[in-house]
This record gives sequence, structure tokens and C-alpha cells, in this order.
Amino acid sequence: APTHLQVIATAYILNMSDQPQRDVKNHLLFEIATEVANRVGGIYSVIKSKAPVTTAEYGSRYVAIGPLNPRSAEVEVEEIPVPAGTPLETTLRSMSERGIRWLYGRWLIEGAPKVLLFDTGSAYKWLDEWKGDLWSVAGIPSPAHDSEMNETIVFGYVVAWFLGEFVHHEREKAVIAHFHEWLAGVALPLCRKRHIDVTTIFTTHATLLGRYLCAGSVDFYNNLQYFDVDHEAGKRGIYHRYCVERAATHSADVFTTVSHITAYESEHLLKRKPDGVLPNGLNVVKFQAMHEFQNLHAMAKTKINEFVRGHFYGHYDFDLEKTLYFFTAGRYEYRNKGVDMFIESLARLNEKMKEAQSDMTIVAFIIMPAKTHSYTVESLKGQAVMKSLQDTVAQIQASIGQRMFEHAARYIGVPGTEVPDASSLMTPQEKVLLKRRVFALKRTTLPAVVTHNMENDQDDPILNQIRRLQLFNDSSDRVKIVFHPEFLNSNNPILPLDYDDFVRGCHLGVFASYYEPWGYTPAECTVMGVPSITTNLSGFGCYMDELLERPQDSGIYIVDRRMKSVDESVDQLSSCMFDYTKKTRRERITLRNRTERLSPFLDWKKLGIEYTKARVLSLTRAYPHAFDGEDGDAFDLVHRTKLPPPMSVPASPRSGLMTPGDLGSMQETMQALNTDDYEGFNMPGAEDEDDHYQPFVL
Ligand code: UDP
Ligand code: G6P
Ligand code: GLC
Repeated sequence: APTHLQVIATAYILNMSDQPQRDVKNHLLFEIATEVANRVGGIYSVIKSKAPVTTAEYGSRYVAIGPLNPRSAEVEVEEIPVPAGTPLETTLRSMSERGIRWLYGRWLIEGAPKVLLFDTGSAYKWLDEWKGDLWSVAGIPSPAHDSEMNETIVFGYVVAWFLGEFVHHEREKAVIAHFHEWLAGVALPLCRKRHIDVTTIFTTHATLLGRYLCAGSVDFYNNLQYFDVDHEAGKRGIYHRYCVERAATHSADVFTTVSHITAYESEHLLKRKPDGVLPNGLNVVKFQAMHEFQNLHAMAKTKINEFVRGHFYGHYDFDLEKTLYFFTAGRYEYRNKGVDMFIESLARLNEKMKEAQSDMTIVAFIIMPAKTHSYTVESLKGQAVMKSLQDTVAQIQASIGQRMFEHAARYIGVPGTEVPDASSLMTPQEKVLLKRRVFALKRTTLPAVVTHNMENDQDDPILNQIRRLQLFNDSSDRVKIVFHPEFLNSNNPILPLDYDDFVRGCHLGVFASYYEPWGYTPAECTVMGVPSITTNLSGFGCYMDELLERPQDSGIYIVDRRMKSVDESVDQLSSCMFDYTKKTRRERITLRNRTERLSPFLDWKKLGIEYTKARVLSLTRAYPHAFDGEDGDAFDLVHRTKLPPPMSVPASPRSGLMTPGDLGSMQETMQALNTDDYEGFNMPGAEDEDDHYQPFVL
């Protein structure tokens, strides 16, 4: 019997001369990523938040493709029939006949995009054959026991199979396949080798080597030009993965990253200069009333207050009216996400506040998933004792009210009996009951710094850093710590809030990242009107720094981790937090208003245009003839999809005329506007290089 590859080789690899003339204007778009309808980190946020603008532009011409993760698809995706008589149906039917399982449906998010999720489990029978093929066509090795690599290969081969067969049935329209990150990248070299008639874009959201090198103790940014990439990848056991990433980078018609800092890194580590930068946006929700987000802050804060009362039971000796909530959150990458620096700075902040005899208290949350064996008894107990105290008080309060009413109602004109004697309002039984509830709050231990039983308590870097700095939630500490090693959701038994609501309820997000290609977390804070601290080593930080004259006036603080020593950066961060503790409530409210006013800059309605440009560029590269002459103006595609500018006026942009295109844009277009550098990220030595992005002029 012919192998799988022989079948597709004869049937679907087209002769160049056999390729149809495709309609570029009504092209179809597939976006391929492993985080489609499956939250892992920021890539999920990209695809999900961008869905409304993408579906507005493409309607049913857009399908997002990912691997099927039944647990999340079950809640996020509604299955729908594949439109009958379409190339999609023909392709999927034929794949089903060969045993591939898939789910086609509507992703239940704003924009309701169509998704196609392949069950990779149904294709593992070809794994060995595909591994051999990957080696022979792309020179990519695949060791036996890397299950993530196996998954990447199977998913990549299934996607390439799908695309190859799809364009065989769809002969009219051009097809763009936009891939995100190396995990979805295996199909890219396959598309190229098999001459599949699609045009491709590869967007990387980080580089593998960058992440690995930074997590170690390397001086990454000063040495970027000098790393021996194959050697470094080999040393870390990721050579094969690196090969996938590099092959994807070099096989794509258009290669992009999410920020200039990652563009610079990619050029050196992946050896291809990106064609442009696609900054990440958000789906910004505009409220009817300006102050509505302030009300939401107050409401969410009440919920966090409840948690704090419970968690600190027996030591709740601080005033919640004078308490501020700081937090950091993200995937557990201790050094890359700057948690080391955050905790160190909290220790210094604690000292500063004690010295200044501040009457404020900071509760600093660290939300980062780690391996745990569920909640600790103490943290569950804390919420339980507070809850029964509250129930008892409510019960007594009702009885007192009833007694007071009864007393007043029986007034018959005897002077001095109008108001009951306060001491008689509570019965002795009630006093005993209340006393028992209050005694239940006694404890001999300090409030824990972590809410869960950790699988590896002894070696956990966050806990060890907290221990080293002795931030043990003592009464005298002005800075208290709560490490919650699990992402948040509203079904959580101790902190029942979705992540978004938790962010709203906080006062300051702190993201001291060392390696952060973009960094959604501070951007999300911004659109919710929560001030945040980021660094000039994050894509978002550089972007805002480039955009705003004085970002700190709008609640975006940028810590310098590039030109300063670690000690200086820690100082800068702790001073910044300390200054924040000195603000009055009025000042905090004003700052939140200013922060929220930056939202339009981060809205996909504005930033989505960069994706459009990347797609136009990929079409012009694959189908140059379609753009010849008057009728086939590439601009037309960009113009057609231009959305109106956002309503609210931003705080203090550096230039009133700025468009995202001035920040990150595509090369090889009509008229060139030179940017001086990788915007907002002047690297040591970068000045000497000929690193110019040439943005589109719209
Ligand atoms: N996040 C979440 N729940 C949490 C904490 C974080 O869903 O409890 C999300 C957050 O909203 C953000 C993403 O995790 O969109 C992290 O993305 P980022 O770009 O900051 O980092 P990445 O994980 O991609 O490196
Ligand atoms: C919002 C609410 C105000 C509340 C304030 C608390 O602005 O609209 O009613 O007083 O939040 O702010 P704070 O910074 O003290 O949490
Ligand atoms: C990556 C990066 C993060 C970025 C996200 C979305 O996972 O680590 O910085 O925000 O992708 O682009």
C-alpha cells in the first residue's frame, strides 16, 4: 500500500504550471496556532482578542486552526456543520475517510470565529513516517522522547495535509495561512517543499533560544550578536525544536514578530530579519459612562477585601481603607517574568515604609501556576472562620433589629423609654456565640505566604526568595505577600474572581520582566484603568515608551533593566512602588482615569491594520502579477479594511499623527519611510547596523 506521503505527493502537490490564477481580493484566511480555543499564555489572548476585527474583515472567509484539546474545546467551542458543497467540506470528508478526527465549530467568544480543531491523536499512526520525512525534506531531527516535539510534528503534518488538499479543491481564491510560534511551525517548510499554493506568514511571539538563555544567568542583550546558536541550542537539548523554529522562519513568505525587541533578537538568533512588527492589541470595551470602570474597581476590590480578611485572620490588624493591592501574574518563569526582582523590591519597599512609619499596608499577590496538591487547610479555614463570623453577626444583627423595633413599637409615652438600653440589646447567648466566633480567629502561626500545598515546596524559587528575604507577613511588615500558585477563576473557593475582575480590583500591576517579547499583562491593566510597572526589556514597555512623552504620568512606569545594574533596577522599582503608596485616594482615581485613556492605542481597531499589511505583503510576494496595474492596487486591500479611529482622546502621545505603522511596519512597500532603529529599543551596537524597517505609507 502507498504510504500517506505517496498519496498526497501524487494527488496534491501541484506542478507550478498547473497553479490556477487566484483571486487575491477575496482571499481566504487560515490562522494556525496551538492556543486556538485553548488558553496557555499570551498567544491565546492574541487570537481571541483579535477575533472581532478579523471576523469583521473576513466574515466566513476566516477559520482559526488548532489542535483539539477536548477539555477546553468542550467549554469554548460549539460544534456546527461544515458548509455543504464547499472545498472545506470536501477536504475534511476526505481526511475523515483516512481516519483524521476533527471538530469544526464556532468559538464562543466575541466575534464568534469559526475554528477547525484537529485531533492529533488520530494521526499518531504516521508519526514515524513523518519524522523520517521531516528529516529528509527539512533536515530536522526528532529525538524519540520529546512528546511536545512529537505533537508539533503531527499537528504540522496534519495542517500541511489539510492545506495541500484544500487548495486542490479551492481553485479560485487565494489562501493565506498565518502561523503563530514554532509549535505551529512544522507545516511551513512542508508548504514550501510541496509547493502548496498558499501564501504564508509566520509570526513568532518569542524565540526558543531567547527564552532559554534568559532563564539562565546569561547577559543576553549585550551578547545577542555573538551567540553560536546551534551550539547553544544543542547544549540545552533543544536543537531539534530550534530547527523547527528556524525552518518556519525561513520558509514563510512573510516573517514577523510582536515587538522590535523580539525583531532584533530574531534577526540574530533565527538569522532572518523580520519583515515587520505586529504589535499585540486588545479588544477594548468602551463603557457608556466614563466612571463606570472606577465603580468596577470598587466592586472588585470589595471581593479582594473579603479574601484578605479571611487570609489574615487573627492578624488582621491593618485598615483596609489604607491598604493597596499590588500584583504580578503570568506563566511561572521566575527570572524571565521578573518575579525575582519583584520580591526583592517588595523587601526594600517594606523597609522604606517601616522607616517612614507609613500607615499604609501593601498586600502583594503573585499569581503564577505551579504544581500543587490543592489548597492548604489554613487558607480554606481562614475563609471559613471569617464566613461564620459574618453569618453570626448577620444573625445577631437581625435579632437586635427585631428587639429594637419591638421596644420602639411598645412606646406608650413614658419619658426615657424611647430608645432601648444599648447593653440590653444583645442576649447573653448571643454574646457567648459571638465570643466563640472571635476565639476561632486566634492562631499561633503567621498568615501563610502561599495558599496551596506545593508539590516542591523546598525548591520552589518564589518561596525560597520569600524565605531568604523573610517576608513572612509579620504584624510589623507593611508589605504582606500572598502567592497563589494557580490561575484565577470565579469558581475558586478562596478568591472567587475571574482574572480580569481581580486585576480591576487591584491598584498596581508589577511586571518586572527580563524576557518579554510583548507582555499582555501590563497592557490588560492599562485598558482596565489599572496603573502598572513594566520594563524596557518588554515589547509593551518599549512600545509605550516610544509612544508617550511621559508614560509615568499615565500610569505606565518603565523600569530600566537595560542600562542599569540589577541593584539599581531593584531600587528604581521599589522607589516607584513607594511613591505610589504616598498617593491620596483622589490621586489614585485621577491616575486610573489617565491610564484608561490610553486604551485606544492598544485597541485592535487601531493595531489590526498591521496584520492587514502583513497579509497584503504576503499576497504581493506570492502573486505579484495580481498587483500589476491600476486595478490590482495592494493599497486597496488595506484601505478597504481601515476602521474608524477610536473615540476617546489619549493622554499625551508623542506625536498627534502617530499611527501604529510608524512603530512597527512592513518592508518592501510603496514609499519607504526610514525608522532609525528597532523602535524604542536601541541596542548596544545596533546603531551601527543597517536595521531599518520601512513602514507602509497609507
Ligand atoms: N492570565 C490569565 N489568568 C491569570 C493570570 C494571567 O488568564 O490568572 C493571562 C493574562 O490575561 C495574559 C496571559 O495570561 O493574557 C499572559 O500573557 P503574556 O503575554 O503576559 O505572557 P506569556 O504567558 O504569553 O509569556
Ligand atoms: C473608585 C470608586 C470610588 C472609590 C475608589 C477607591 O474610584 O468610584 O467610589 O472611592 O474607587 O479607590 P482606591 O484607590 O482607594 O481603591
Ligand atoms: C509570548 C510572550 C509574551 C507575549 C505573548 C503574545 O508568549 O512571552 O510576551 O505577550 O507571546 O504575543
